[in-house]
Amino acid sequence: MKIDEIRRVDREVKSWLSESRKRVLTEMKSRLVVNTKTGRRDLVTNVDKANEHFLVDKIRSYDPGSKILGEEGLGDQVTSSKGQVWIVDPIDGTMNFVKQRNHFAIMIALYENGQGILGYIFDVMGNKLYSGGPDLGVFENDQKISMEKNYSLADGLIGLSGPMVLSNEYNVDEVSRKSLGMRIYGSAGIDIISVLKGELVGYISHLKPWDFGAGKILLETNGFKISSIDGQPLDMLSSTTVLLGTPNAHRDVLTIVSQ
Ligand code: IPD
Ligand code: CA
Ligand code: CA
Repeated sequence: MKIDEIRRVDREVKSWLSESRKRVLTEMKSRLVVNTKTGRRDLVTNVDKANEHFLVDKIRSYDPGSKILGEEGLGDQVTSSKGQVWIVDPIDGTMNFVKQRNHFAIMIALYENGQGILGYIFDVMGNKLYSGGPDLGVFENDQKISMEKNYSLADGLIGLSGPMVLSNEYNVDEVSRKSLGMRIYGSAGIDIISVLKGELVGYISHLKPWDFGAGKILLETNGFKISSIDGQPLDMLSSTTVLLGTPNAHRDVLTIVSQ
């Protein structure tokens, strides 16, 4: 995609996200309709569905030839990464959204033939939009951001998923011990923002394409590493255990989990 087109798409997506945030803030004031999906900790609300509906409609009218992978199923059945593929997580951190009314994000990614073009993670309550891609750089609202330092695991905090900690999957106990401490935020988007800003040196969680699609683009643009927990490249259409962080922290975690 040419740079002029990327800038045009960027302006367009930002206008959708600004409207989307306002709608979510308004809808949050009314009683939420909450349903479970795979279990009592896996929730979906009327706001998740309405927001996916809103974003999918915007994408379809702006880019009718593309495919859309949406968490709540309002997009397409996407089986190949050919062409333009949009990935939408209408509310990331739905449990936080329901129980805290805070610490959740709206996420959109655009890939072309498997290559990341643009990624967006909107911290709704913080009113901070993290956006960009390889041709634009990474921004926090209008401010360009870069990697603070290539921290090692021992130099910082590591973001982990609660279920992985409880079962000590992939020896995450040891990963946590080697770090300065672990944090469990409950939203992949908020964890990824924290890595981008240098507040965490890394993050490990079981993730689906809509959980890491936008983050992968922003992280790689700023020199961070993201892979499966065994160091393999991510398949944009599959769910896996994801490891991301500064190059040094990523290497340190790989060493521990492969022992
Ligand atoms: C979830 C959150 C959570 C992560 C889960 C995701 P959702 O997204 O990002 O932090 O651990 O794997 O599914 O379902 O709230 O959009
Ligand atoms: Ca979601
Ligand atoms: Ca999610």
